[in-house]
Amino acid sequence: MRTKVNKITMLVIFMLSLFFLAACSTNAAREKQIIRVAHNQSSNHPTHIGMLAFEEYIEEILGDKYDVELYPNELLGSQTNLVQLTQTGAVQLTVASNSILETFNSDFQLFNLPYLFDSHEAYHAVMNDDQLTEPIFNATAESGFITVAWLDAGARNFYLQDVPVETPEELSGQKVRVQQSPTNVRIMELLGGSATPMGFGEVYTAIQSGVIDGAENNELALTENGHGEVVNYYSYVEYQRIPDEVIANVEFLDNLPKDERAIFDEAFQVMQTTQHEAWGIAIEEAKEVIVNKQNVEMIYPDIEPFKERLLPLHDEMLEAYPELKETYDEIQVKIAEVNKELESERSDQNE
Ligand code: GCU
Repeated sequence: MRTKVNKITMLVIFMLSLFFLAACSTNAAREKQIIRVAHNQSSNHPTHIGMLAFEEYIEEILGDKYDVELYPNELLGSQTNLVQLTQTGAVQLTVASNSILETFNSDFQLFNLPYLFDSHEAYHAVMNDDQLTEPIFNATAESGFITVAWLDAGARNFYLQDVPVETPEELSGQKVRVQQSPTNVRIMELLGGSATPMGFGEVYTAIQSGVIDGAENNELALTENGHGEVVNYYSYVEYQRIPDEVIANVEFLDNLPKDERAIFDEAFQVMQTTQHEAWGIAIEEAKEVIVNKQNVEMIYPDIEPFKERLLPLHDEMLEAYPELKETYDEIQVKIAEVNKELESERSDQNE
């Protein structure tokens, strides 16, 4: 009898401890804050590779407190939806094209200007210059988010189903998908095309079904998003180098203890550097796939006629927003410095 009671007592104690342990672990799990990171690219894309590096960095150092959850492929919505979710704090981090951010703050227009950056080097030098970017990156704080890193999104080129774009004239009357930003709509107007703004995820079906004649984007849109399966020509007009901005909810950032915020800042840098490195490799691979697997013809037009039509947009924008003139001029100084360096490197090589 006595042993039976003991056994029952032991069993009860065992069960209680199991409950206790389970409760502790659920509490521990509950105490971990979920960091939701969302974007509209595939899980092969350099942007996702950057996000994985961020996740790894945070979880390695602060894994007892934070659980980073990644949502690629527009799983939580289009970029515009994602910016709104970041504003409310439902999502902590999102990747938003600089293009769509100009509708939240006009300062972002600067980086959307056509032919602002004439080289990859100028693009990186300006975007890596904190003095130039920080005031713009922080300008949206009152809207609930700020930019904590920038990602490479290459140069934008036209790709149409049936028309090889050699000059702006070929764009005349063509329905071309653009991002949902006033600058991009204006650019198409100046080129004589018919701008069709829509979310990135809708482009493939829109081209396939003939709703639009084509679109404009970097090479990865053709490979990662399959647009190369539904177009025949890709024209290197390189008329915009629009960065992607990684935006974070302000309340989330402000609530981080100082030491943890420092680790998050390091993690944002790791994300940025990883994405930039992965970008260079991915673009080279994509070019190969576009030509050899997707059989898309690459076209290298003279870009001067495109520049002629688009450069007046700089003055148009500065007339409408004179407060941007000072930063615009500083950007131009930086670009001139980079061009000078490139020039002297080239002449050293030729000697
Ligand atoms: C690029 C860019 C994205 C953007 C997309 C678009 O892929 O990296 O941020 O959403 O273009 O054209 O919508």
